[in-house]
Amino acid sequence: MRVLGIETSCDETGIAIYDDDKGLLSHQLYSQVSLHADYGGVVPELASRDHVRKIIPLIRRALQESDSSQHDIDGIAYTRGPGLIGALLVGSCVARSLAYAWNKPTLGVHHMEGHLLAPMLDEHAPPFPFIALLVSGGHTMLVRVGGIGQYQLLGESIDDAAGEAFDKTAKLMGLDYPGGPMLARLAEQGEPGHYQFPRPMTDRPGLDFSFSGLKTFAANTLRDANDDPQTLANIAFAFQEAVVDTMLIKCRRALKQTGLKRLVIAGGVSANTHLRNELKKYMDSIKGDVFYPPLEFCTDNGAMIAYAGLQRLKAGQSDGLDTQAKPRWPLDSLEPV
Ligand code: KG4
Ligand code: ZN
Repeated sequence: MRVLGIETSCDETGIAIYDDDKGLLSHQLYSQVSLHADYGGVVPELASRDHVRKIIPLIRRALQESDSSQHDIDGIAYTRGPGLIGALLVGSCVARSLAYAWNKPTLGVHHMEGHLLAPMLDEHAPPFPFIALLVSGGHTMLVRVGGIGQYQLLGESIDDAAGEAFDKTAKLMGLDYPGGPMLARLAEQGEPGHYQFPRPMTDRPGLDFSFSGLKTFAANTLRDANDDPQTLANIAFAFQEAVVDTMLIKCRRALKQTGLKRLVIAGGVSANTHLRNELKKYMDSIKGDVFYPPLEFCTDNGAMIAYAGLQRLKAGQSDGLDTQAKPRWPLDSLEPV
C-alpha cells in the first residue's frame, strides 16, 4: 500500500509518500518561518495563504521523486486537526479533492498521533506498549500507548505547552522566532550554578505540567540581570535545565505508575539535545529503552501523517468526503486500529 500524506496544521507544508514495503519514498517540506519572523509568531491568515501557494507544487514534486503516478497511490492521508483552522482547511480540501478526482480512500489524521508514531519512521522502532512524552508547540502530554489508537492520557499541560514556553522565553530574551531551537543553542554556552529556576508542579502528586510560571520567572530574572551575552546564556541554561528536569521527573513517575520501561519522546521539542541526553541517561540507568523520531521528523512533517494514515487505511478505516477539519480534537477520543 502507498499513501500520500499532507500536513498543513500550522506553519509547515509537509508532503510525503510512504509505502508499506519500501518505506518513505519522498518527503517534501516547506517551512514558513521567514514569512512569520517579522511578526514574532505565526500569523494564521498568512499561513493559510502560503499553504495554498505551496501545496500543489510540493505534491507534484513528491510524486515525481517517488516515481509515482496517481495510479500508484492507494490512499490520501491529511492532518484533520488539531491546528489552525484556515491552515487545516487547505490540506483537508486538497486531500479530499484529490481523493474524489482519483477515486481513492481518504483519511483525516490526528496531528499528535502523527507525532506519536514518528519514531516508527526510524529503523529502531519502539514496540507497544510504551509511555509517550509528546512535546510540541501546542501540546505537552504524557500518554500510555497500548497500540495505534489506544491512548490513555496520563497528564498534560494546564497552561503553556513546552514548545510555547521555550518560544515565549526566547522572545523575552530578544531571540528571533521561532525561539525554541535558538534558546537551546544559547543554553549550550551557559554555565551551571548561576540561576535556579523552579520545577513547577513536581512537589505534588500527578502527571500534569505547568510551564507559564517559568516564563514569568524568566521575565523577572531578565529584568534584574545585566544583558551581557554570558549572563543571557546562563539564564537560557537554567531555563532549559528546569524544563527538561521537570519533564524527566514526570516521565519517571509515569513509568513507575504504569510499570513500563519504554519511553518515546516526540513533537518539536524532542529535537532538544539536552532533553534527549537526560532521558537517555535515565532510561539507561533503569535498563529501559528510549526512542525518538529521526531529527528531521521531530518537528512538523508530512512523513508522520503518511505513516499514521497508512496504518489506519490498511486496517480498512477511511473518512467520507464531507469530513470536517477539527481545530480541537482530544487524542484519547480516537478509534483503535
Ligand atoms: O511539533 P512542532 O513542529 O509543531 C507543533 O505541532 O506545535 O513543534 C514546534 C515547537 C516550537 O515551539 C519550537 O520552538 C520547538 O518545537 N522546538 C524546540 C527545539 N526544536 C523545536 N524547542 C526546544 N529545543 C529545540 N531544539
Ligand atoms: Zn506538530
